[in-house]
Amino acid sequence: MDKWTLGIESTAHTLSFGLVDSKGIPYPSCSDTVSPTEGGIHPREAADHHKEVASILLGKLLVQNELSMTDIGAVSYSQGPGLGPCLRVGAAIARGISSRLEVPLIGVNHCVAHIEIGRDQCGCTDPVLLYVSGGNTQVIARLEGRYRVLGETLDIGIGNMLDKFARTQGIPFPGGPVIEKLAAKWLEENPNPTMDGLELPYAVRGMDLAFSGVMTAAQRLLESGKSLEAVCWSLQEHVFAACVEVAERAMAHTGKTELLLGGGVACNSRLRTMCELMAAERESTSFAPPRMYCIDNGTMIAKLGFLELDSGRITTYPHSAVDQYLRTDQTPITWV
Ligand code: ATP
Ligand code: FE2
Repeated sequence: MDKWTLGIESTAHTLSFGLVDSKGIPYPSCSDTVSPTEGGIHPREAADHHKEVASILLGKLLVQNELSMTDIGAVSYSQGPGLGPCLRVGAAIARGISSRLEVPLIGVNHCVAHIEIGRDQCGCTDPVLLYVSGGNTQVIARLEGRYRVLGETLDIGIGNMLDKFARTQGIPFPGGPVIEKLAAKWLEENPNPTMDGLELPYAVRGMDLAFSGVMTAAQRLLESGKSLEAVCWSLQEHVFAACVEVAERAMAHTGKTELLLGGGVACNSRLRTMCELMAAERESTSFAPPRMYCIDNGTMIAKLGFLELDSGRITTYPHSAVDQYLRTDQTPITWV
């Protein structure tokens, strides 16, 4: 009988269940995200949220796809990186399902899952990946059997920076999409924009990036009387240009001709356009997956679990502990 692979994502703010079918074809996830009314995300509160909503979400996913638990032939989960208490909820659910159904368990690398769902959705083969999420900002390429990090943030992730900046203005999590709207509004009212009076420090440090200084400088612009819309526009232009510059240099160094976006910030239309322009100038192509597969989702975990299982890897119970600090380049690529 054709069995499905279930994927469980629980690295941070979102609990999500997703599926791929027996051929590895992805199906949309069922997700729920904690949205604290004030302050940042508290790991334990997020973990409590995940426990509360888990069975409802899983039930919904099965109903949506007209499946029952006996149709599940394997279960994969995010083993890291992420927030410990949140990761442990996903791992515990996965172990429970695996032992009850007597099906293989596969713990996967969350960052690598962002890459693989992108490759699946966009049909690219060997891209440089610009992975821009809340917690992570990395430029990655496949070299010698691993996804190697060629450049990354030295302080906070670009999404966390956007969320933090938004929070200082009373905008609740996630702030990134609101900043995008405010920036677009300003551009509509100022069709020929200049950076005059809106300059911010540049976030590039060699092949790496750093965002906290840019955020502080953006707050200073607000204090000096610039409008929130104008500062949002300038902030996006500066930090996205920095990411695109590092990605371009990674393409030049590696000789790769595909760029793939991944992570929640890859939902941003302005970033997508900047990547397309850069790629076109290099006679290359920029790809971006559908937005539901950019943000954290269980489907990408199911997809990578399916690929790893297909290449012969499973996670035994003694090796199923989560790893908060799992690195992108710690996972050997066995499935390509
Ligand atoms: P990871 O564990 O990979 O770091 P994450 O926990 O940050 O993932 P994601 O869902 O990948 O979760 O990304 C969430 C981030 O994406 C938030 O910081 C949010 O503000 C940002 N984001 C979502 N949509 C947009 C947008 N349109 N423009 C800018 N940022 C966005
Ligand atoms: Fe993520």
